[in-house]
Amino acid sequence: MRIFVFTLLILFAFHACIGRDIHIVPIVGGLNGTATTTRYWDCCKPSCSWEGNVDVVSTAWSCLNDGVSKLEDDNVQSGCDPDKDGAAFMCSDQVGIIVNDTLAYGFAAVSFSGGVDLSRCCQCMLLTFQDYLIQDQQMIVQITSTGSDLPANHFDIAIPGGGNGLKDMGCTYQWGNGTFDSIESADDCLEIDESLQPGCLFRFTWMKGSANPPVTFQEVECPQEIIDASGFHACFGRDIHIVPIVGGFNGTATTTRYWDCCKPSCSWEGNAHLVPTVWSCLNDGVTKLEDDNVQSGCDPDKDGYAFMCSDQVGIIVNDTFAYGFAAASFSGGVDESRCCQCMLLTFQASSDGKDYLIQDQQMIVQVTSTGSDLPANHFDIAIPGGGNGLKAMGCTYQWGNGTFDSIESADDCLEIDESLQPGCLFRFTWMKGSANPPVTFQEVECPQEIIDVSGCRSNATEYY
Ligand SMILES: *[C@@H]1O[C@H](CO)[C@@H](O)[C@H](O)[C@H]1NC(C)=O
Ligand SMILES: *[C@@H]1O[C@H](CO)[C@@H](O)[C@H](O)[C@H]1NC(C)=O
Ligand SMILES: *[C@@H]1O[C@H](CO)[C@@H](O)[C@H](O)[C@H]1NC(C)=O
Ligand SMILES: *[C@@H]1O[C@H](CO)[C@@H](O)[C@H](O)[C@H]1NC(C)=O
Ligand SMILES: *[C@@H]1O[C@H](CO)[C@@H](O)[C@H](O)[C@H]1NC(C)=O
Ligand SMILES: *[C@@H]1O[C@H](CO)[C@@H](O)[C@H](O)[C@H]1NC(C)=O
Ligand SMILES: *[C@@H]1O[C@H](CO)[C@@H](O)[C@H](O)[C@H]1NC(C)=O
Repeated sequence: MRIFVFTLLILFAFHACIGRDIHIVPIVGGLNGTATTTRYWDCCKPSCSWEGNVDVVSTAWSCLNDGVSKLEDDNVQSGCDPDKDGAAFMCSDQVGIIVNDTLAYGFAAVSFSGGVDLSRCCQCMLLTFQDYLIQDQQMIVQITSTGSDLPANHFDIAIPGGGNGLKDMGCTYQWGNGTFDSIESADDCLEIDESLQPGCLFRFTWMKGSANPPVTFQEVECPQEIIDASGFHACFGRDIHIVPIVGGFNGTATTTRYWDCCKPSCSWEGNAHLVPTVWSCLNDGVTKLEDDNVQSGCDPDKDGYAFMCSDQVGIIVNDTFAYGFAAASFSGGVDESRCCQCMLLTFQASSDGKDYLIQDQQMIVQVTSTGSDLPANHFDIAIPGGGNGLKAMGCTYQWGNGTFDSIESADDCLEIDESLQPGCLFRFTWMKGSANPPVTFQEVECPQEIIDVSGCRSNATEYY
């Protein structure tokens, strides 16, 4: 009995960790070539953690000297510059992440031009190793840093204990003297801070101790797992590809906001006609439910416990562009015909001309739900605290009484559960508090970043 339970737990954990599918999506016409590699871990704030170095609003995380407390402020000086009162170091989780024996994720300091090269901060490259020990093993690395000592076409893979590089005091400032001096084996990894041991061991397990193998590389879309480890909301690559569907659905629509906490309509296999469907979550808002048939938490009389997931919210790409999710209707009333399709919304001034705050800002939303109270051509944008809608008790069932009652400002957002605060703040930051602006819309291909969050792609296997 004990063994049986244990096995189930392992299966569940494995599934929960890597999501339903690993999609390696090469960027057509993207950068590719051959390159050399080395290892590094200099403990210094990564170059792509500075807002000024990255074209996008969101940068790679840096951390306090514990390696785990992430710094919201992009302008904290590097811990490698103690004379500038620097306090920003590398985060211990930006290390190799094993997917399976032949595929891993990771991070690297990179140069394509030779020397400091910030041009590709936050982009992802698929490396294929050319070395007999790990021949043909592949690793998707996100570019989080660069370095004046790097030759052209070079990946310096982030591996704790892998080498200090130029900034040879960095790790002493972060972790004390001597810690990183002589890592030569998996055993040595056990001598350094616990938070760094998995990253250090990666070199001796998945990489089999291989020393600086050459690679071929190809630009790919960044997997969500990498963005989650490195990003503030998301350290997206710079090239956001908006791909309109030729002859696709388009028009003008009205918008509102909602967050009713209920299982989204497109989470039901029978409604979405697609497998996989949109993720729903346990009442913690983060534990994803594999079972599409769990009743909605808004129906406690049916023992429902499937709620909205706290990450299906607005995601800022830059000042004028964002991703998100919406309940939509095109026919008026419940309309599941476009579950999991993506629409590019372009915000317009309100009809009285008074609300023009986000005019021309664009947002790609995925249709994850619908609603009997929605008029035709309407997007109800998913924003925590945005409004309960018809299911007035849903959020009480998920989060307790009163939580969502009167969100009118960014400050109010800080009163709700932490997991929902980024989504709530989106309304007051990126959307500038704009109230229900009209939009024009155009059907587009769903970006991988959206699919990775919702779990659903509009061209998924059809299910009836
Ligand atoms: C590892 O995962 C990749 C991507 O899902 C897959 O193509 C490959 O076959 C897997 N390899 C092994 C050994 O399971
Ligand atoms: C590789 O790069 C070349 C230009 O150097 C480009 O023409 C080609 O499309 C790229 N290949 C892929 C598969 O992206
Ligand atoms: C590291 O060693 C130097 C002298 O070599 C000493 O001044 C300093 O206090 C030591 N720091 C730590 C954290 O042990
Ligand atoms: C935001 O990103 C979009 C998509 O990549 C791009 O077209 C737009 O120019 C960017 N805007 C700003 C202000 O960076
Ligand atoms: C917009 O929709 C019309 C049909 O309503 C279609 O003919 C046209 O091709 C669409 N436009 C785009 C850019 O997809
Ligand atoms: C919410 O309030 C109701 C009465 O209005 C009470 O029965 C219930 O226990 C409360 N639930 C929570 C989670 O506070
Ligand atoms: C679904 O879309 C993905 C990329 O968005 C593409 O790679 C795949 O081939 C498509 N599948 C089908 C069946 O159209």
